[in-house]
Amino acid sequence: MVSRVIPVDGFDLVIFGGTGDLARRKILPGLFRRFCAGQMPEDARIIGAARSEMDDAAFRDTVAEAIREFGGAHRADKAQVDAFLERVGYEHVDAMGETGWETLKGRLRDGVIRAFYFSVAPSLFGALAERLRSFGLADDDSRVVVEKPFGKDLETAKKLNATLAEHFDETQIYRIDHYLGKETVQNLMAVRFGNMLFEPLWNAQYVDHIQITVAETVSVAGRGSYYDKSGAMRDMVQNHLMQLLCLIAMEPPARFSPDAVRDEKLKVIRALDPVDHHQIVRGQYDADDTQPGYRTHVDDLRSTTESFVALKCHISNWRWAGTPFYLRTGKMLRSRTSEIAVVFKDAPHSIFGPEAGTHRNVLSIRLQPNEGMTLGVTIKEPGPGGMRLVDVPLDMSFAEALGPDAEEVPDAYERLIMDVIRGNQTLFMRGDEVEAAWAWTDPIIAGWKRRGDVPKPYDPGSSGPEDALMLMHRDGRKWREIKS
Ligand code: BG6
Repeated sequence: MVSRVIPVDGFDLVIFGGTGDLARRKILPGLFRRFCAGQMPEDARIIGAARSEMDDAAFRDTVAEAIREFGGAHRADKAQVDAFLERVGYEHVDAMGETGWETLKGRLRDGVIRAFYFSVAPSLFGALAERLRSFGLADDDSRVVVEKPFGKDLETAKKLNATLAEHFDETQIYRIDHYLGKETVQNLMAVRFGNMLFEPLWNAQYVDHIQITVAETVSVAGRGSYYDKSGAMRDMVQNHLMQLLCLIAMEPPARFSPDAVRDEKLKVIRALDPVDHHQIVRGQYDADDTQPGYRTHVDDLRSTTESFVALKCHISNWRWAGTPFYLRTGKMLRSRTSEIAVVFKDAPHSIFGPEAGTHRNVLSIRLQPNEGMTLGVTIKEPGPGGMRLVDVPLDMSFAEALGPDAEEVPDAYERLIMDVIRGNQTLFMRGDEVEAAWAWTDPIIAGWKRRGDVPKPYDPGSSGPEDALMLMHRDGRKWREIKS
């Protein structure tokens, strides 16, 4: 039911930062899985490029290990693993110098798509883009893929966009937000625009509020030096949560094409009101008996960076005026739960009298784990004894609905890399979108700095700081539980 695999055209994919963590955990294992699924054609080549000196064989060994650990290669046929590895090579390249570029060029073939994945620090994007052009590796049909963080504020994002634009057209630039590659995230569009049922109710007249929660159990240990300069606002809200907000709030695009979708998302970001600082709560996880707290993890005992954010925002347009959106994300929370909940208003009048209570329909879209959707509906409690009402879930789990095929659903990176080869930018962020998202987040971060704001501590394994609960209680609403 799910896996109708259409092979992509032949390609040469160069991964700058090919020995790095992202390549090892996501990009290479993702490619291996697509290879096993039959989507990567015979004439596909993957070339790792990085500073370390090694030959093809040594790189293949590291790739073999990566796909065993993260790509399920231990379950795969040895012949299949070998066939994949045959397509992998390595070139030692100096991003800032001259070394390696000519030999890398010599490895690229004519007549296949060329894609260059910048899995490196953004400070190298400019140098790489420039050399790809000056050494003649890239042409007007080549693609470049860039990872987040795309800047740390509006100014740096604009500079990055300008640098890339010097060498590549916007249609060649693929800015990854891996949330857009998640199956359920794309399902948001299918649910909204593939059904007649929801869209007429999808507005301020019927929706009381929308909650978006991305809760994680992981800490920032091991990536403290990046994270402490970033914090939850830059690391998660500016990109992943805002993308979710866009998909849930945007107007129906006229067609499912890259610019039609991205134009509508951009309008949402531009319609966001500035956030009042009373409507934001920052948190930082404490230590507990078993592990150190945030400040130890980032090796700065005075750090005021947030590992948790909850905020309330408004979209000023005809569809959403008056309906608040509550966003929440954090590390070291009770469980790994990502969910979007659309909470509908109360029925305007209850014919069942006050004793029946008030009931609300909630459509909850679970991004992870156990991807699926639940619609809470009100029914009569079975049995005699009058008309008592009770809420029950109409529950749909993708795993159950799709059966064994659900396991074959590609991970976000797999899908996104294949989209790069296909030349489909729908699930990638356009430059103006990224800038608009920074334009909204920058004043929030600047406000914290100006006021010397210190995040509220919260217990590991909790739902975040108390104040985050108050953010909703004040409005007579409550967060959905982060279930353990
Ligand atoms: C990354 C963030 O972009 O997304 C991480 O930098 C975060 O801090 C991760 O943990 C979450 O992704 P996922 O797919 O595990 O929800």
